[in-house]
Amino acid sequence: MRVYIFDTTLRDGEQSPGVSLNVKEKLQIARQLAKLEVDVLEAGFPFVSPGDFEAVKIISREVKGVTVAGLARTNFNDIDQAWEALREAEQPRIHTFIATSPIHLQYKLRMTPEQVIEATVAAVKRAKSYTSDVEFSAEDASRSDLNFLCQVLEAAIAAGATVINVPDTVGYATPNEFARFIGEIRQRVKGMEKVILSVHCHNDLGLAVSNSLAAVMAGAQQVEGAINGIGERAGNAAIEEIVMALRTRRDIFQRETNIRTEEIYRTSRLVANLTGMNVQHNKAIVGKNAFAHESGIHQDGVIKEPTTYEIMRPEMVGVSHSDLVLGKHSGRHAFRLRLMELGYTLDPEELNTAFERFKALADRKKGITDRDLEAIVEEELRLIPAKYNLAYLHISSGTTIIPTATIGLQIGEEVREEAACGNGPVDAICKAIDKITGYSCTLLTWGINAVTEGKDAIGEVTLMVTSEHNKKTYTGRGISTDVLEASARAYTNAVNKLIWELGEGNLPKN
Ligand code: KIV
Ligand code: ZN
Repeated sequence: MRVYIFDTTLRDGEQSPGVSLNVKEKLQIARQLAKLEVDVLEAGFPFVSPGDFEAVKIISREVKGVTVAGLARTNFNDIDQAWEALREAEQPRIHTFIATSPIHLQYKLRMTPEQVIEATVAAVKRAKSYTSDVEFSAEDASRSDLNFLCQVLEAAIAAGATVINVPDTVGYATPNEFARFIGEIRQRVKGMEKVILSVHCHNDLGLAVSNSLAAVMAGAQQVEGAINGIGERAGNAAIEEIVMALRTRRDIFQRETNIRTEEIYRTSRLVANLTGMNVQHNKAIVGKNAFAHESGIHQDGVIKEPTTYEIMRPEMVGVSHSDLVLGKHSGRHAFRLRLMELGYTLDPEELNTAFERFKALADRKKGITDRDLEAIVEEELRLIPAKYNLAYLHISSGTTIIPTATIGLQIGEEVREEAACGNGPVDAICKAIDKITGYSCTLLTWGINAVTEGKDAIGEVTLMVTSEHNKKTYTGRGISTDVLEASARAYTNAVNKLIWELGEGNLPKN
């Protein structure tokens, strides 16, 4: 039996605090989700912002072979706008929702139960007038009165809903309880056998994946979640965990998904890089340590027979071996070939810059691994034109001097230089870059990850900034064996995104 995977990385996932993706980034993630073969891709909430509307519209036009969903409250403006954004999709789905719990009815909606049923019916009918594929969600379903919830769901089905979603909006449910709840809904709601029953779990108690799987055992046919488990507050159910649990324990679940699991790791990296939400090292399936064996006894066992300590092979989720693959004598051909084996196709210009970065890295680092190559390529595959590129930096810092940074940024043929002092070297770097670009940003977060082991490992800096210009958040990513250089690259990357969004393209500002 099949379980449908509904991905909401671009909608609920993008509601993660601090995350803000531009249209190009959303399109890139949507393309990767289509490669992963999710069944439904929720591209956004078109009514909430012009950016969301545009993203849903472009994804609907460009990404084929997958159902594209757009979220809408039950009011007609939301639904009409969702349809406007979705109309070019190959398989459009309008996803409409209203809350059903007493708390939400009393304090948020200020509506009576009868009004909620009326709004549900009207919304589903309106959506149905545009497309045959209509999903209805009862927000905060798990804290709703079961009798009332069943009435609302029955009304939604009678009005034409084809998918009924039962969210645990605040992550309050526990697995046995949620399974019983889903079982009751399946039995009690008239017409449920004609539609797809879906669940949508949040992770406030760390139970989103367990609750989703318990619901599958109780008959849920669609599971909603986000890559890396990102989303509101503590996040949504992590899709990669649900999919791999269903695959690895098919003996228990007896369900299949359509997911190409070998694309999981690449999708996770892309989402982490573009959202700036790093994946914790011990995260199941996609964490850096998920397939690392530290103890000598474990390593010995895995060498003799992988199944001694591995319940999944890393290749199943697309994790490549971390063996040394290239070195400073490797040529462009070997470089390109290895990238192709890793699934990257670069245009000639991207290949040139990536090869230059590779050569510079090979001078500083003994052996280059697949992970290093992925880090280089992911930095070079720029989705937007970069107005500024780091040309050079000089830092003076220490325990008894004021940190100072001198930065050169390339803009077209010209290099502009500025110097600044700061509280620390990273602060000085950001201030020097601000002086050159003319934009001032506040650093919200700054994090570093070593891509591989060893003192000469590449450092990958991910940061988030808020622009004083428009108060929006931008993420940046930069890599280098020198952490300060990586910081300068990451900050420049974030500022380039701001400039691109302001529509300045490659025109000099001053
Ligand atoms: O968590 C929730 O209830 C939602 C709905 C809009 C589906 O995200
Ligand atoms: Zn949600």
